[in-house]
Amino acid sequence: MSLHQEKIAQVDPIWFAMRERAEGFAASEPAIAILAHATILQHDRLEDALAYLLASKIGDGGVTPLLAREVFEEVLDADPEIGAAVRADLSAVFDRDPACHSYAQAFLFFKGFHALQSYRIAHWLFTNNRAPFAYFIQSRMSELFAVDIHPNAKIGRGILMDHATGIVVGETAVVEDDVSMLHGVTLGGTGKEHEDRHPKIRRGVLLGAGAKVLGNIEVGEYSRVAAGSVVLKPVPAHCTVAGVPAKTVGCAGCDRPSQAMDHVIREADFDI
Ligand SMILES: CC(C)(COP(=O)(O)OP(=O)(O)OC[C@H]1O[C@@H](n2cnc3c(N)ncnc32)[C@H](O)[C@@H]1OP(=O)(O)O)[C@@H](O)C(=O)NCCC(=O)NCCS
Repeated sequence: MSLHQEKIAQVDPIWFAMRERAEGFAASEPAIAILAHATILQHDRLEDALAYLLASKIGDGGVTPLLAREVFEEVLDADPEIGAAVRADLSAVFDRDPACHSYAQAFLFFKGFHALQSYRIAHWLFTNNRAPFAYFIQSRMSELFAVDIHPNAKIGRGILMDHATGIVVGETAVVEDDVSMLHGVTLGGTGKEHEDRHPKIRRGVLLGAGAKVLGNIEVGEYSRVAAGSVVLKPVPAHCTVAGVPAKTVGCAGCDRPSQAMDHVIREADFDI
């Protein structure tokens, strides 16, 4: 390993690992080599690679990929916290999704990751008085990935959106760090509240496939919402809720359900 490579491995291990795997992809699969080079290997930084990747997908019509890339690079340079969140999200996907075998795989091929990073850029634009561009990204994200996240929603770091199709996150929703959610999750309003009308999902929650959490209610930290549930009332911390409408069925099964991706409701969980 050259001195330069050693430095990258120390300073930015995720980017280093991504590049190594992309080199492997390029060497073993000629049909992917151009993609791996254009999207990862030709760039010096993860941020530049991300701006290229997202712009090539989101760019459309009057907003060409070239123009989109300029704006995305500007945003990523303006706020280094986004780059930190991107790395935490890549770690979350790699650690928690059993189908993910490398950072490069998640970066190149997982649309939940693409949608989340599109949101991160849109959120920055929205909160910096550039709402029209943010809405353009939201609209393209929805068309491309079937994920609709309002740019004003607040989403923490280390988030896994697994499979992701059909995820909807409303304007006043909050999703704290280390949350995992599967496809079909809705963090929506009931239609009966105004202004602050969407759910607050606390740290480390696991939201199962198709879970609907409706209204300005809190899902307490490290709880689990079972697949297909409709949650209409606040959920205490460290609990599992299930059903339509959702009821508490037990404890969360482990300390960190979103990280363990523990979906199993065991008899032992029914002890509260
Ligand atoms: C239907 C809805 C408007 C509630 O209307 P409501 O008549 O005011 O109902 P309430 O909230 O008073 O609840 C009445 C009962 O129906 C149940 N209920 C309400 N919504 C329900 C739902 N979606 N599924 C199952 N049961 C539901 C409640 O648990 C309650 O049961 P209970 O009396 O045994 O406690 C609302 O819950 C809903 O589903 N809105 C759709 C919102 C949506 O699609 N949002 C997504 C936006 S992206």
